[in-house]
Amino acid sequence: MIKREQFGVWQGSPVYKYVLQDKIEAEIVTFGGTLVSLKVPNAQGGLTDVSLGYSCVEQMWQSTAYLGATIGRCGNRIADGKFVLDGKTYLLAKNDGENHLHGGTQGFNKRLFDAEVNGNGVTMSLHSADGEENYPGDLDFSVKFTVEGTTFTIEYFGKCGANTLFNPTNHAYFNLDGDGDVHQNVLQIFASKYLPVDSSLIPTGEERCVAGSAFDFTQPKPIGKDVCAKDEQLALAGGYDHNFCLDGAHAARAFSPKTGIVLDCFTDRCGLQFYSGNFLNEQAKKYYPKRSGFCLETQCYPNAINQSEWLQPVLKKGENFYSKTQYVFSVGKI
Ligand code: GLA
Repeated sequence: MIKREQFGVWQGSPVYKYVLQDKIEAEIVTFGGTLVSLKVPNAQGGLTDVSLGYSCVEQMWQSTAYLGATIGRCGNRIADGKFVLDGKTYLLAKNDGENHLHGGTQGFNKRLFDAEVNGNGVTMSLHSADGEENYPGDLDFSVKFTVEGTTFTIEYFGKCGANTLFNPTNHAYFNLDGDGDVHQNVLQIFASKYLPVDSSLIPTGEERCVAGSAFDFTQPKPIGKDVCAKDEQLALAGGYDHNFCLDGAHAARAFSPKTGIVLDCFTDRCGLQFYSGNFLNEQAKKYYPKRSGFCLETQCYPNAINQSEWLQPVLKKGENFYSKTQYVFSVGKI
């Protein structure tokens, strides 16, 4: 079942909230294609809102936390806001120190989408003009959110009039306890390698084995177990804020011993940014302090466009882009 309600107004246009309901309930707003609530069954027989969210458009416009937002054109960082495509150099906004982050100063998270209901999903679309945020090519973008049983699916579609850089994702923050910090949330990431970063959080190019380090999530462990461990990489990022090189389509599992909620994340992307909410300090639906949510952002490797050996997040002129990520909820234990 899908309901539509007005959420607010942006520059004279209505902003809508779509409520997608089955055994779980997701609320998505047309400003930024933003997930603002995700209620899922818990072991106590009730529902827990496991996602961090904004309560109004003004918060979305002002915030730099990207709570639940659709990210584009290119998720994560691009070193020095610079890349070369087909021999031409493109200079992007440096909106994160010297680097470009999450699509720039007005990425998709700060755009108003059109929306259309299809079956048990809602498709949100926008047109990104040639040169918008200095990215090349006229891009038609849409993202479809579907709720079916206890599965929340996000599908991305794109088509561009020129070769371009394209790496959309979603920036949902989860807290399977429903509140407090996420240190007791248990996490498993199906990745035997991760990407170490430099002091500006750009991957150095090395793919490092997780074995024997704080980055080893191949067996489930509480996020808080090693987050403060003595580790040069944790010190650089103030916690986890790293891309994991996924071994397969089952990217991650998370579990709350408090609510019994289990989350399984599946994707067709090769990378997963696990971010432990290190910079969080946000007044939204409620106050979200540091580590009150964690993100599992499915993506191509950060700054891949400047690392030619990695899968390139390039969408060729006229080709149809498609990608899918699913978050499946259950109650149990991992
Ligand atoms: C991403 C980045 C983080 C941070 C958040 C937004 O996950 O990797 O460093 O910028 O977005 O706060």
